[in-house]
Amino acid sequence: MMFVYLCATLVSGSSWTARTYPKELVDIWTQRLGPVPDVNSEFTSLDSVTMDDNESNDVEFDARTRWPGFISDSRDPGLCSGLYSFAAASMATDRLAIHGVTTTVVSPQYLLSCGPKCRGCKSCTVTETVDNIKSIGFVSESCFPFVSEKARVPQCPANCQNGSKFTPFRPKRVYSQLTVKNDVYTNGPVVFILNIFPSFNRYSSGIYSPGSNETAMGTEPVLVVGWGTDGSNDYYIVKCFRGVLFGEGRGYARIRRLNSLWAGTGYGVEFEQ
Ligand SMILES: *[C@@H]1O[C@H](CO)[C@@H](O)[C@H](O)[C@H]1NC(C)=O
Ligand SMILES: *[C@@H]1O[C@H](CO)[C@@H](O)[C@H](O)[C@H]1NC(C)=O
Ligand SMILES: *[C@@H]1O[C@H](CO)[C@@H](O)[C@H](O)[C@H]1NC(C)=O
Repeated sequence: MMFVYLCATLVSGSSWTARTYPKELVDIWTQRLGPVPDVNSEFTSLDSVTMDDNESNDVEFDARTRWPGFISDSRDPGLCSGLYSFAAASMATDRLAIHGVTTTVVSPQYLLSCGPKCRGCKSCTVTETVDNIKSIGFVSESCFPFVSEKARVPQCPANCQNGSKFTPFRPKRVYSQLTVKNDVYTNGPVVFILNIFPSFNRYSSGIYSPGSNETAMGTEPVLVVGWGTDGSNDYYIVKCFRGVLFGEGRGYARIRRLNSLWAGTGYGVEFEQ
């Protein structure tokens, strides 16, 4: 898609720059958002998650430099709102590589088409996604490539596209009780749920935080891949599923460590090595 950005201006009083994305992209991002959790919703009632922790004292960490070549590119789900399957597949891709199991790219389509819970191109919950992973595991992109860019979801086939049987990678453990920095540092990227404020659709670079007068309009999953500080603002580095045009490059953003930005629950998967 041809794409020109007209301005990248510092938003006054903050530490990030804005740009104007094509309207059709912004519309798709907005349409794909999941609900903002209520207090007492499943997001907050799942196991607690500690955003800060006491062990990984590195001031800066970036999984992309810690494990070069093992952190997969952000992928664009197109019109498919099944971002939770994309986030799960991306985390599995990265962690299978980091832990020396395989460097194959994991298929989001398999979860979208074959997951017993929340099948299809819709915004699932963390619980539904975790249930899907536990019941069917993951297969490779070459076994079942992504075809739902237009939100049409094929039935779950009996086999891989070349006719061979599904031989899923089954995680030894899917866990939601984690200290984020420790987990990223030790095991690789983790899935987290970001509250999305209107200004995030204009985020270009820098350390993002919403304006004090903004209200969250939805949620979307991201992978936390690292963290850092610019002295006054601590941030997390996240891989977003908004296509490679978004953010600071290849779909990445830096998000200020404010509780209001996080909708609560994250989770990780662990593979047998
Ligand atoms: C970090 O916190 C955990 C849980 O509170 C505790 O068990 C552990 O000993 C602490 N580690 C260090 C290095 O302080
Ligand atoms: C079929 O595809 C799967 C998944 O990509 C692969 O592991 C397998 O080797 C392929 N089988 C044949 C016969 O090509
Ligand atoms: C929030 O405040 C900023 C200036 O502080 C203003 O430019 C913006 O339009 C306001 N946004 C909303 C949604 O009211």
